[in-house]
Amino acid sequence: MGERTINIIEPSRQAGALQPPLRSSDWPAPTGLLRDTRGRPLHDLRISVTDRCNFRCTYCMPKEVFGKDYQYLPHADLLSFEEITRLARLFMAHGVRKIRLTGGEPLLRKNIERLIAQLAALRGADGQSLEITLTTNGSLLARKAQSLRDAGLSRVTVSLDSLQDEVFRAMNDVDFPVAEVLAGIEAARAAGFERTKVNMVVKRGTNDHEILPMAQHFRGTGITLRFIEFMDVGATNGWRMDQVLPSDQVIARLQKRWPLVPLAASSPGETAQRWGWAGPDGRHDPRLGEVGAISSVTHAFCGDCNRARLSTEGRMYLCLFATQGWDLRRLLRGGASDAQISAAIGDIWHQRTDRYSELRASLPPDQGTGRGRRIEMSYIGG
Ligand code: GTP
Ligand code: 5AD
Ligand code: SF4
Ligand code: SF4
Repeated sequence: MGERTINIIEPSRQAGALQPPLRSSDWPAPTGLLRDTRGRPLHDLRISVTDRCNFRCTYCMPKEVFGKDYQYLPHADLLSFEEITRLARLFMAHGVRKIRLTGGEPLLRKNIERLIAQLAALRGADGQSLEITLTTNGSLLARKAQSLRDAGLSRVTVSLDSLQDEVFRAMNDVDFPVAEVLAGIEAARAAGFERTKVNMVVKRGTNDHEILPMAQHFRGTGITLRFIEFMDVGATNGWRMDQVLPSDQVIARLQKRWPLVPLAASSPGETAQRWGWAGPDGRHDPRLGEVGAISSVTHAFCGDCNRARLSTEGRMYLCLFATQGWDLRRLLRGGASDAQISAAIGDIWHQRTDRYSELRASLPPDQGTGRGRRIEMSYIGG
């Protein structure tokens, strides 16, 4: 059997869609040891379940672009839960151990609990189940925390940019009150979720004065607060370097107030650099917990990036800064077998070269990993 790959599917008419390589024969069984051209394994699959959101965060879905007339994907284009679960099973055989559900706002997808239950029932060849996590803006969490937990969700991450109500309402740009998100975080705790994380995108001049109050609020609660550098993701958020507060400065501001010690990464390819709150002996005090810094702009972490992304309509993206994705839905709906789809996923990952954040400084502004426009965060979910 040759190594030849041939295309038997016509090119997609959708802009930005790449046609997955489909072998006519020779579909190697997945080994779970897949590596890309830089030796990186495929460990983490981030699945966007809707491109809609009830917030209009200025750094993600600015109202001028995502207005009343914005055309979201029609329902028929969305992958069904059965299609998502089938792909997740095939990705698992290639080494995926963690799935993150994202959006837009994933809790807006109807019956998301049903999808979670289906994913939670999957088992790898070694009998292991997936870690299933979800990133939410928290607006519906108070209502849904218990049903998510019951469905088998492992963890939640809540986005929260400020504790000050006016600042929060202005950043989500739909006048959503911070108290309801805090109630969602509390509901998650009451439902039994542990190791919850809170993500704060730091925009210099907008919410950087909230760094210390946020740290104070979550210190010692068991919740890990992570500071994210405002990124140039997508093409619509008006990103400017002078609005980025480098994580080193965030950590320096925290260290002026409380002692912090660096912690080792908890898993390979982790996005955050971890810092532990120290006790009086200068050592990490686990009761005080930790904070994280996600520094895509000032300290790229592409070297061990093990994340693939699946868009709401079934395209596989290899980087947050990609311009094009591989149209797996055409395979799903075109009658391809598990072996064929699995081989296509393997071939796509195997040829992956992406390392946008490492190259950012040497690229022209607004360029992504390929030709055309970069995908939006609200479309691919971070
Ligand atoms: P945990 O497993 O809970 O630590 O989650 P995570 O850090 O993998 O996921 P999360 O969705 O919480 O990611 C946090 C933020 O990091 C995202 O919102 C993005 O802003 C950023 N991020 C995540 N993955 C990548 C990546 O591959 N590249 C870049 N540049 N940024 C990323
Ligand atoms: N820069 C950094 N993080 C971003 N997010 C959305 N847009 C950006 C950006 N431009 C984060 C949100 C949320 C996750 C889905 O992505 O805060 O935590
Ligand atoms: Fe804000 Fe997340 Fe919605 Fe984007 S997807 S607008 S970051 S809540
Ligand atoms: Fe991975 Fe692309 Fe992010 Fe680098 S910029 S860490 S390759 S997703």
